[in-house]
Amino acid sequence: MKQILIINGPNLNLLGKREPTIYGNRSFVDYLKTVEELFPDVQLRYFQSNHEGELIDKIHELGFDMDGIVINAGAYTHTSIAIADALSAVTAPAVEVHISNVHARESFRHHSYLSAKCKGVVVGLGLMGYEMAIRYLISL
Ligand code: DQA
Repeated sequence: MKQILIINGPNLNLLGKREPTIYGNRSFVDYLKTVEELFPDVQLRYFQSNHEGELIDKIHELGFDMDGIVINAGAYTHTSIAIADALSAVTAPAVEVHISNVHARESFRHHSYLSAKCKGVVVGLGLMGYEMAIRYLISL
């Protein structure tokens, strides 16, 4: 059975409540049930943290055992060389996801430290981006 780790970074615990015109009305925990139904043959692990070091610790802990990592590092995407280094350090391939189209937003969201460490990036397709990332990772 393939194992995929989904990592959400800061403020993504507030999905459903946070800026719904940008991020939608659905909580991630609710959406996760749909993902589990879509991929019954995949063992999904989910981790969310608002703390950079905790995200890095989780990448270290599971990143050598997983078949893939789906990561939305939230605002750390645009600031964290340390998370980028963690993705480089582990063996699991990663896909970066953003719910919103970061390229249609403020210029500080246009650069990602993580993209170069990932197999690919899914941007602006809402929560569906996570499904697409998982589908790609299990195809590897
Ligand atoms: C985000 C985009 C980031 O710029 C922002 O800081 C987030 C969410 C997204 O999923 O669209 O927290 O990663």
